[in-house]
Amino acid sequence: MMRASLPLRHLASVSGRQALPRSAAAAARAVRPVAAQPVLGRASPFRSGIAAGARGLATTDGSQSVDFDPNAATSMDKMEPPAPGADFNVVIVGAGNINFGSDEGPWNHSFRLEHKLGPRLKVVALIDPSAQRAEAALNVKRNSFVLSAYKDTVVYPTFADYVANMKPHQKPHAIWVGSPPQYRGREQPGMDLEKKLIEAFPDVAIFIEKPVSTGPVADAQKVADVLEKSGNLISVGYMLRYLKVVQKMKQILEENNLKVMATNARYIMAYEHTAKLDWWDKSQTCGPIVEQATHFCDLSRYFGGEVDLSTVAAHSLEYFEPAGHLSKIPVDESKVKPENRIPRITCATWKYESGAVGSLTHAVSLQGFNYSTEIDVLADGYSLRLVDPYNAPALYFRRPGDDHEEVVRYQNDDPFFSEVSNLIDCIEKGPGASPILSSYDDAVKTYALTWAIREASEKSAKKPAK
Ligand SMILES: NC(=O)c1ccc[n+]([C@@H]2O[C@H](COP(=O)([O-])OP(=O)(O)OC[C@H]3O[C@@H](n4cnc5c(N)ncnc54)[C@H](O)[C@@H]3O)[C@@H](O)[C@H]2O)c1
Repeated sequence: MMRASLPLRHLASVSGRQALPRSAAAAARAVRPVAAQPVLGRASPFRSGIAAGARGLATTDGSQSVDFDPNAATSMDKMEPPAPGADFNVVIVGAGNINFGSDEGPWNHSFRLEHKLGPRLKVVALIDPSAQRAEAALNVKRNSFVLSAYKDTVVYPTFADYVANMKPHQKPHAIWVGSPPQYRGREQPGMDLEKKLIEAFPDVAIFIEKPVSTGPVADAQKVADVLEKSGNLISVGYMLRYLKVVQKMKQILEENNLKVMATNARYIMAYEHTAKLDWWDKSQTCGPIVEQATHFCDLSRYFGGEVDLSTVAAHSLEYFEPAGHLSKIPVDESKVKPENRIPRITCATWKYESGAVGSLTHAVSLQGFNYSTEIDVLADGYSLRLVDPYNAPALYFRRPGDDHEEVVRYQNDDPFFSEVSNLIDCIEKGPGASPILSSYDDAVKTYALTWAIREASEKSAKKPAK
């Protein structure tokens, strides 16, 4: 993989014309394009040394050196078509949105697996207690050009059923877990999926979606310890780490030997179309910090390092407070017990072990579809501002001796594909072939931070009048 040793300005694919900030405030700021503009296309002078499909991302935690190739293709349509070859068996756990797509966002792991593996992909089992949902997902696939991957897929209600009925040729090369976190991350039967997976397949790579659990953090840590001792390669779905702009931020920090002074994350969701009642019920999905802002807590840790959890302080705006009324909730919130209704606003601060300060504002306040999400990372002389990582990721940054904000964008970057692709590369070519940016143990630390924020906000929350 190509080491990015060129000066910063020459690495970024930047389009001044496209550098339109989304907010009015941002628009008012001066945005100056970076001088050199290698295009992320076939004509790029940097492409020649890169193997087709090489994943240009690097650094597994904050401490390792950056080896970041801004020109590696990461979107499916820029890949060489996958070549025919030996079958690659995948067991998919969960037939829901994350694995098979939905209107709510760009996630869809099966679609990325198809594009990574092409005719080699064989989904040998789809595990879901809802046979109806699983068959519906398979029907769509079987009526399309990816038929060969799904024509022999067997639906099982549980993983144990698959193991009991599996033929030797159906042994998986990878297990893709996108079941609800209520059923994993713990030691109790029925919630101990990870243990069952590694017992049945001690050498098979496993992808696991965030959050790692909905149970106690200590239980998730025990699972992490068990997984650590296993021979299984594990990757957790904190896909924003794989964004090129995120890797660019890591690179700027490392190349300039910077110490992060503060992170400031803002996650303003558009609630109008969030029609799953469970999402509005803390007893089901743990609330918006554990379930949703977890991505930004994870990014905060990715840049800021370990958090001193004893310092976490937080306040919330609750549903019964005058400012907490929302006019367009698409579910009947009265069906949720009052004590389980989610906060509208959560504002948290904390100290990192380095001494740096972190903060997060999560809001359930926008209508329409688009969320507004940003994170600032501050260091001496530098401001790194990541904007809209879900839809149109852009990095606005200031460097010492310059009052202007520069902007970096990468065309066609697909972090969901990168996380899929990197794990497959490690399975096929050996561990380390491509970086895995979120381990289970690390993901548990993010889980712990989200719970610390939730608990701090609940402690300080106003209580409804009797
Ligand atoms: N990384 C992201 O951006 C992202 C996006 C969406 C969802 N997710 C995560 O993916 C996970 C699943 O979310 P979703 O939106 O797909 O949910 P979903 O409700 O759409 O689908 C979940 C599916 O799992 C099935 N299921 C329930 N219990 C099961 C069990 N014990 N074993 C196997 N399957 C079971 C359900 O029947 C359903 O089909 C969650 O952890 C969620 O946070 C991550």
